Amino acid sequence: MFERVASVTEIPPHGRKSIVVDDVPALLVRVGNDFFAIEDVCSHDGQPLTDGPVADGAITCPRHGAKFDLKSGQALCMPATRAIPTFAVQVRDGEIFVGPAGSELPVMPSVTAPAQVVEPTNIPVVSVTAASGDQVPTPAPGADDDIRLIDALKQVIDPELMVNIVDLGLVYSVNRDDRKIYVEMTLTSPACPAGPQIVQQSKMALERLRDVDEAEIKLVMTPPWTPDRMTDEAKDMLGIF
Ligand code: FES
Repeated sequence: MFERVASVTEIPPHGRKSIVVDDVPALLVRVGNDFFAIEDVCSHDGQPLTDGPVADGAITCPRHGAKFDLKSGQALCMPATRAIPTFAVQVRDGEIFVGPAGSELPVMPSVTAPAQVVEPTNIPVVSVTAASGDQVPTPAPGADDDIRLIDALKQVIDPELMVNIVDLGLVYSVNRDDRKIYVEMTLTSPACPAGPQIVQQSKMALERLRDVDEAEIKLVMTPPWTPDRMTDEAKDMLGIF
C-alpha cells in the first residue's frame, strides 16, 4: 500500500529525503522531475547511501564506491555484487507516495558455483633463472613453472567477492628471479578493506612453494582494475554479463 512521504515542492530537482518504508530506512531521490526510492543500505557492507553522489541515474556509496542504478537497484560496479531493493513511487496532485518494494532484484553472485580452470595466458609471466646452489632446483623457465605460480595465487580468494584473485584479474604480472618471485597486482578499488589480507595471503601462497624463498608483492593502481579484467568464469560467478 502506498504511503505519502513528501510533497514535490519539498524536494528540489536534485534533492533527496530520508524516509522509512515498511520499517526499512529508505532514500527518496529526485532527478529532474523523476523520483526514485531505494533502500538506504549499501549491499556491500551496510553503509547508508544517504550522502552518496548521484549522477547518470545512479547513486555511489560514499564508503567504497559501489554504484547502484536508482531505478532497478542493480549493482553497477564493484565492490557491491548484490542489488539494493527499490520501491514504487507515485506522484499525485503534487504529493509523493511510496509503495511496495519493487520487483525482486537480481542477486549477483552465485559464489558457490565451482570455479573453472582457466589457462593463465592473459597474465604475463617472465621467468628468469640464475645460478643456484640450492638443494631444491629452481625450475627452468617455462609454462609449467608459470602455471605453478599462477595456481598458487589462485588459492587466494578475495574475501568480499569470494572469487580467486587470478580470475578477478587482480594479478598483473608474475616474475621469477631464481628463488624470488615478484608480483604486481591491484585491488578492485583503492579503498578495498581486504587489501592487506590479499597481499599477505598472496605472499604466503607463493612462499609455500618448495622452490620459492621469497615473494615480493607490489600493489599498483595503474592501470586501474575494471570488471572487464575478470575471466568469463568469474563474471559468471558474480552474475555479470
Ligand atoms: S559499504 Fe558501500 S561500497 Fe562498501
